Amino acid sequence: MQGKKVAIIGAGNVGSTVAYSLAMNGSCHEVILMDNKVDIAKGRALDMSQAAAVARSHTVVSVMENVEDLKDCDVIVITAGSPRKPGMSRDDLLLINAAVMKDIVTKIKIHSPNAILIIVSNPLDAMVYVALKCSGFPRSRVIGMAGLLDSARMASFIQEKLGFGAGQIRASVMGGHGDDMVPLPRYSTVAGYPLTDLLSEEDIEEVVERTRNGGAEIVKHLQTGSAYYAPAKATAVMAEAILKDTKQLHPCAVMLEGEYGYSDIVCGVPIRLGAGGMEEIFEITLNSCEKKMLQKSINSVQVLVNTLNENKFFDDAK
Ligand code: LAC
Repeated sequence: MQGKKVAIIGAGNVGSTVAYSLAMNGSCHEVILMDNKVDIAKGRALDMSQAAAVARSHTVVSVMENVEDLKDCDVIVITAGSPRKPGMSRDDLLLINAAVMKDIVTKIKIHSPNAILIIVSNPLDAMVYVALKCSGFPRSRVIGMAGLLDSARMASFIQEKLGFGAGQIRASVMGGHGDDMVPLPRYSTVAGYPLTDLLSEEDIEEVVERTRNGGAEIVKHLQTGSAYYAPAKATAVMAEAILKDTKQLHPCAVMLEGEYGYSDIVCGVPIRLGAGGMEEIFEITLNSCEKKMLQKSINSVQVLVNTLNENKFFDDAK
């Protein structure tokens, strides 16, 4: 079997922690880091290769300086872009990060045309939209990481509320990765038991609100950056599902083509992840309140896409 190769573009805190997680698990044969700060990427790659040697993992971590040098990658993780600063919304990053994304995927399209892209840069759903339009890749190969992270945050807040159940909680969040994301208590369980039977409505509402602000809560503490352990682990789990063709179900941001009644917009929905990337979208039953929340969340993503269109961002991407 040919060795699996993963490239990570943007070797900041999220990107390098994804690389570390893949290297420690021996999830692929090669991890390539790429960053404008080449020396920092080189230092981190050396450090990680040595960590892999300690862990007796076969994964080799190296650095490449140009996206043009990438060839035959199975998965390319894109984390490049400015991170959020305190008081800044994900949307403030829109135009800066869209230009970075366009530049990267235009090159990937030429040099690694069969790769599956996992998008992590913010504002997440809009960046998936940009990556898809500017690469021309099928929607099955451009997948955003957010739902897995938001669901994990919800699970950890449920555990805090309950005081038990760590590792047994499956929480579910759909929609965009923004302040209007759609946590779904009705589809959350503890050891298979419905959350709605274990927590009061009031407590559930607190969990929902805290989940929506989960990223900002961490930014406030860190002051000089945003979360990276959980975002990176969620990204690594997605990469592993693709590399190992596990066919696991995860909430991820993908382009909708009629699912849930929406088209030409990116949104977090439950999908099956495997060697083909996004292999299937599942349309779960939503009640009228959940549908309204989804509509609101999608509208927020649409506003960002409209801003890009008003700035003629896609005019040369066809
Ligand atoms: C977060 C940022 C990365 O949710 O969007 O932590």
